[in-house]
Amino acid sequence: MTTLPLISLILSILSASTHAFDQVYEQPVIGILTFPYTSSSLLPLSSDQSVVSNILNPSSLKFASSRFGEAPDGAVSYFDASYKQWLEEGGARVAPIPYDIDEDELTELFSKINGVLFTGGPATPETIPEYFKTASKIYGLVTESEDHVPLWGTCLGFETISSIVAEGGESVLGDFDAEQISLPLMFTGAASESRVFGPEMPQQIKDILWSQNVTTNWHTYGVGVDNFESLLSSELVATSTNFDRGGLEFVSSMEHISKPVFAVQWHPESNQYDTTDKAGDDTPNRSAEGVQAMNYLSGWFVEEARKNDHSFEDGDDFKAHILSSEGDGVVFDNWVYWFEHS
Ligand SMILES: *[C@@H]1O[C@H](CO)[C@@H](O)[C@H](O)[C@H]1NC(C)=O
Ligand SMILES: *[C@@H]1O[C@H](CO)[C@@H](O)[C@H](O)[C@H]1NC(C)=O
Repeated sequence: MTTLPLISLILSILSASTHAFDQVYEQPVIGILTFPYTSSSLLPLSSDQSVVSNILNPSSLKFASSRFGEAPDGAVSYFDASYKQWLEEGGARVAPIPYDIDEDELTELFSKINGVLFTGGPATPETIPEYFKTASKIYGLVTESEDHVPLWGTCLGFETISSIVAEGGESVLGDFDAEQISLPLMFTGAASESRVFGPEMPQQIKDILWSQNVTTNWHTYGVGVDNFESLLSSELVATSTNFDRGGLEFVSSMEHISKPVFAVQWHPESNQYDTTDKAGDDTPNRSAEGVQAMNYLSGWFVEEARKNDHSFEDGDDFKAHILSSEGDGVVFDNWVYWFEHS
């Protein structure tokens, strides 16, 4: 054997390992933290309404039962397909992060994904301790990482980030009357410096967001402006607020002072992808402008996720984590991805 083929073999192995996989530009991967489902604690059975109303936001009961009623056997966690679709619209792929993942596995997975999303859900963060614990660890990884790995929180995700920053206190959340209403954002002074709504955002998108009723609110909890000021403002900046039906002002968008953490109390995935079709509702607003604004936001967030070079080891490792359709331990049913955990 001459040395030349050996050298070229070594070179090709080296180049295969450094260029094996162009994840970041081709298809950045966003982890979505799954939400716990246990039939005994979350299914709104009429036999024990008191347990249910402690755990669930009562106005979500109808929504929850229509979906949870059809949970497949063995499912222990889930998220709505709309969150995945919103990220895919921006060019990303999605990897589920089981809410009960152990710490070592989480750290390893975090080193391979390019961003994280916390979804909405029918509960308050502190009623779901395992989810909250994992969410807190992820928040720590994101804010302590030297890499730019963005985190996006939507609705319950916003409330979760608020509760984490307020150090687990439920007290940061208050009651608001903001179910099923589309609102125009009221930008704060800080919005002009926002990484989301500031100079990077085209004027046309800003104009839609502040002047038209396109942001979908589906919440009975929220963070009032006073609580934000006293409990969160050392770490987070409020970039928009809104008034609920009773005239109470809540923070509707926020971001971390310096780290890539962004959260909205409204649902940017809903205008295009919510398919619950609650007849007669004004939400979500499917106007061309509403869809255009939410589409911009998915692209913006996925672009943030291209700012780190986290990557799976190779195509097989990538495929093993990516959610494509049904597969081992995954059932797609009623526009929900349901997961079994091993
Ligand atoms: C539009 O937003 C305003 C607040 O700016 C709100 O008072 C009104 O109820 C909203 N309209 C609809 C149809 O949701
Ligand atoms: C939906 O948004 C359009 C503009 O994009 C606005 O004219 C309309 O009033 C909104 N509808 C509701 C129900 O808020």
